[in-house]
Amino acid sequence: MEIRDAAAADAAGIAAIYAAEVRTGYATFDLEPPPAAHWAELVATRHGAHHLLVAADGGAVVGYAKSGTFRPRPAYDTTVETSIYLQRRGTGLGTALYAALLDRLDDGDAHLAVANIALPNDASVRLHERFGFTASGTLHEVGRKFGTWHDVVCYQRPLGRGRP
Ligand SMILES: CC(C)(COP(=O)(O)OP(=O)(O)OC[C@H]1O[C@@H](n2cnc3c(N)ncnc32)[C@H](O)[C@@H]1OP(=O)(O)O)[C@@H](O)C(=O)NCCC(=O)NCCS
Repeated sequence: MEIRDAAAADAAGIAAIYAAEVRTGYATFDLEPPPAAHWAELVATRHGAHHLLVAADGGAVVGYAKSGTFRPRPAYDTTVETSIYLQRRGTGLGTALYAALLDRLDDGDAHLAVANIALPNDASVRLHERFGFTASGTLHEVGRKFGTWHDVVCYQRPLGRGRP
């Protein structure tokens, strides 16, 4: 298993993993999967604290973790929103990928990471708490997918080597 920066050739693999969650899960509130071109563009436009990492097994993408724009207004530029999606769950891969992403972020100059978790998602809550994210609030019944309302809890974590 290799964890590395995504390359243009990984776009289709990333797209497939995200599309599976769009179609069958509620960890994302997207209802239509973006095309591979969307991910290719993200690879091409990465900069600063905007990372896109993949886990690859024998060349096949089996998971990815990303950090990107939290809100488009410029005062939010020092904050990144993080997310992670896997093909195989419960094997420690999420922990390995998030460790790599947060390592990059702690070495950079972004100030804060934010992750919004649609509930229930025990694995994601556990993962984020393990890496020092703390819950800062819940929006109740803020999204509806497949006919069910979901709460979203906002988790945040300071970034940098000097963080508390
Ligand atoms: C959330 C996700 C990335 C976690 O990755 P993973 O490889 O399954 O998790 P890991 O095996 O690394 O386990 C991480 C922690 O969660 C716990 N965990 C894993 N699956 C769990 C489950 N189904 N229920 C409760 N806890 C669980 C593990 O015990 C571990 O806890 P520890 O740190 O105390 O040992 C993965 O399950 C996933 O892709 N889920 C679907 C997409 C998603 O929810 N993304 C997050 C959006 S906010």
